[in-house]
Amino acid sequence: MTHSPRKIIIDTDPGQDDAVAILLALASPEDVEVLGITAVAGNVPLPLTQKNARIICELAGKPQVRVFAGCDAPLKRKLVTAEHVHGKTGLDGPQMADPVMPLQEGHAVDFIIDTLRREPAHTVTLCPLGPLTNIATAFQKAPDIVGRVQQIVLMGGAYFEVGNITPAAEFNIYVDPEAAEIVFKSGVPLVVMPLDVTHKALTNRARVEAFRGMGSEVGRMVAEWTDFFERFDMQKYGSEGAPLHDPCVIAYLIKPDLFTGRHINVEIETQSELTLGMTVADWWGVTKRPANALFMGGVDAAGFYTLLTERLARL
Ligand code: RIB
Ligand code: CA
Repeated sequence: MTHSPRKIIIDTDPGQDDAVAILLALASPEDVEVLGITAVAGNVPLPLTQKNARIICELAGKPQVRVFAGCDAPLKRKLVTAEHVHGKTGLDGPQMADPVMPLQEGHAVDFIIDTLRREPAHTVTLCPLGPLTNIATAFQKAPDIVGRVQQIVLMGGAYFEVGNITPAAEFNIYVDPEAAEIVFKSGVPLVVMPLDVTHKALTNRARVEAFRGMGSEVGRMVAEWTDFFERFDMQKYGSEGAPLHDPCVIAYLIKPDLFTGRHINVEIETQSELTLGMTVADWWGVTKRPANALFMGGVDAAGFYTLLTERLARL
């Protein structure tokens, strides 16, 4: 049974793992149609995330993809970045040339609003891979688009795995907890890829060598990005490799059966400085709070890497 590709907007803060997610999407036109890429401040400041998004599109051989710059700071807080993980450029590892393809005119938030108003209702999926500032700003500026979103599939949060930027919070949610609260309370159908699942999608030597062994520029870049990116997590967690967080979002769109989770209530801590940005996930159903998210907990890691390697080899 042939199916038409899902129309998506990727909202991103590249970041080596964002890069792999974008490459996976651009390598899978039968599954996803990338209407545009919207950059947000997160891992590194906005001038770098919008530049990195264009570098990744050119690496994929898709310079026609429309890339927009979005919000350069969280709704109410000072930007917190993650150069300690991703390096100064956000894509440390290999040497990279500056992009040639242009940045689109206009703000990413207006692109999100215009696209959701133009496309038929419930046909566009938003795929946030970074802080939720662009998405929340679009919802605040144009409340009419909220009911038109098909689904939001995002990387963020943690429950059993607890935090990675503080003891309680995962980075994407922690950077802009007010934005996350707007998105999690929006009523839009949510699929959440928390650290609980991304920390089970770890690289290892064989998997990285499978990227390098492709013999392509994409394979070389992904292997060198991963070599750089994994050093932080391996040192911190003593793990064999690093979690490829953001590609889990795109892999879900292509092969949802790779993942398991529960439809539960998830709320965001925005008041306490101690637990700011925590995703309070009612995994055991101990409250009467209504379920608002499919919160993932398991992944077929071997299947995930098989899909990833097969698809990246196309580029
Ligand atoms: O906590 C992991 C998330 O934060 C990933 O999306 C990574 O790219 C960073 O944005
Ligand atoms: Ca990211």
